[in-house]
Amino acid sequence: MSGTQLPDRISGLDLYRPEVRSLPAYNAGISESMARTRYGLARVTKLASNENPFGASPAVIEALKGSLGQIYRYPDPTCAALRDHVQRLTGVAAGRVLFGNGSEDIIEMLCKAVLSPGDRVVTLAPTFGLHEIFPLMMGAVVDKVPVTADFEYDLPAWRIALSRPAKLVMFSTPSNPVGCILQAGQFRELVEAAPPDALLVVDEAYHEYAARPDYPDSLELLSAQSRPWMVLRTLSKAYGLAGLRIGYGLGSDAELVSVLGKVRTPFNVNCAAQAAALAALSDTEYLQAAVCATSRERSVLMERLKALEISRGFGLRMAPSHGNFLFIDTARSSRAVAEALMRHGVIVKPWLETGFDTFIRVTVGRPEDNEHFQDALERVLTAWKF
Ligand SMILES: Cc1ncc(COP(=O)(O)O)c(C=O)c1O
Repeated sequence: MSGTQLPDRISGLDLYRPEVRSLPAYNAGISESMARTRYGLARVTKLASNENPFGASPAVIEALKGSLGQIYRYPDPTCAALRDHVQRLTGVAAGRVLFGNGSEDIIEMLCKAVLSPGDRVVTLAPTFGLHEIFPLMMGAVVDKVPVTADFEYDLPAWRIALSRPAKLVMFSTPSNPVGCILQAGQFRELVEAAPPDALLVVDEAYHEYAARPDYPDSLELLSAQSRPWMVLRTLSKAYGLAGLRIGYGLGSDAELVSVLGKVRTPFNVNCAAQAAALAALSDTEYLQAAVCATSRERSVLMERLKALEISRGFGLRMAPSHGNFLFIDTARSSRAVAEALMRHGVIVKPWLETGFDTFIRVTVGRPEDNEHFQDALERVLTAWKF
């Protein structure tokens, strides 16, 4: 090719949709091996993506081995065995169940299927990045309702936000990144305030960690009203399958699921993920043990951080959490705090959203992971120079 003049390419400004050009990038963080190489670290503790540090059930590993003989075939595009299994688990008819390459795949399908430029979407602030990015990708306008000063859902503010037309109302409970939940009464109030023609998307990525009397049965509450809805769940968190990419949606009706099928890539869930998910969903004992261990560690970490704050007065504030993570106001630039923690071998997620950029989100790990984080945080804040 030497000496040949390459043709001028059409400028990106002309090629890309304006909505895409202005999209914020999703902050996916970095892997352990990247951190090791980039920072020359011997020990790395990754607490940035809300994975289950106890890993997947041993039954999953066996199922994966069993699926290897089938990898030359395309996977079942309908995930039929899984849909039947989820019907048995949830009571939602198989025709109203949809699987995705992670639940984020389903969030994208929902936005593609429902949103036109200018449509209004209401969500929470701070929010899981893709609850904002996918609507913006479709040209929608996103209104975010901030949490209260006590890190709870602000119901009066939601009522006001929902008094105007909206095409999509989407929120997570427990919320990522804060960890707050909608209690049954609040859930009902929010749903009843929503415009009657809005699609309600309730993202329950972390619901296993919130098994408590005041955490509502969203399927029951949503079924009792007439707006269309979808509840999203994932195998990436409590089930420990983040690397395989599989999640599911439970819809109000079969038509919604069939329309989403039109914007779904046909073989979106690979055969290893389907086999693993079936095994994971069947091993409830393992799930309970992992969730119990994380809930216990969440309390221990919270108490230790509170004690650290009392003894050292760093200015830390922690949101009460019903997820497998803590949202911590460091009173300093979250980017700088995360970078300093990285140099001590701990990867956390700096929150960069406007109004919350002094917060880091830290996944609850194994006891040794949490101790590493706590020790690193104390060192970082002790050495901090304003
Ligand atoms: C609230 C929420 N929803 C959805 C997802 C996406 O999960 P996945 O695509 O791995 O199923 C996440 C991941 O962090 C999340 O926090």
